[in-house]
Amino acid sequence: MRLFLAIELSEEMRGALVGAQNELYDRGVRGKYTPEENLHLTLAFIGEYPEPAAVLDALSGVSFSPFALSLEGMGCFGDLWWAGIRPSAPLDALVRAIRRALADGGIPFDRKRFSPHITLLRRAVGRVPGIPVAGVSMTAARVTLLRSDRGRNGMIYTPVGGIDAT
Ligand code: 2AM
Repeated sequence: MRLFLAIELSEEMRGALVGAQNELYDRGVRGKYTPEENLHLTLAFIGEYPEPAAVLDALSGVSFSPFALSLEGMGCFGDLWWAGIRPSAPLDALVRAIRRALADGGIPFDRKRFSPHITLLRRAVGRVPGIPVAGVSMTAARVTLLRSDRGRNGMIYTPVGGIDAT
């Protein structure tokens, strides 16, 4: 089972991101756009691991308070383009706590430096203009454990549990 931990986005934030995707498309950018239902903010990528219950168990001691998440800017990793998140101390603290809990619980995860981003499209072709995405915020109050399966028409992400803010 391929697993990762993410913050699921509010409908309003997803709407703003789809608006940015549509504008990119209208301005000639082609590529593999993330479907609206797959837009999310990954906090930790676990990868192949057979026991979601063990992951949730490892996270049971992680506590956090609801915090604001705001979009800010666009950027890329090669031909993958993303919307950024305004720098947030509570977000960084939550990711640190999650990673520490996973490590303590013996759960494997990708230890690459956390670089908060929401992937808008992959394999972008054409000049990508900057689309303003700032100004939309939401309250993050849950971390969701998602399983990722390859579907007929792309990835399918299914929630298999999570932890709530207190
Ligand atoms: P990405 O959007 O930048 O590809 C599911 O694959 C989620 O986990 C995506 O948000 C993906 O980020 C993220 N992720 C982080 N590290 C990953 C890795 N090593 N392999 C695959 N996905 C990873």
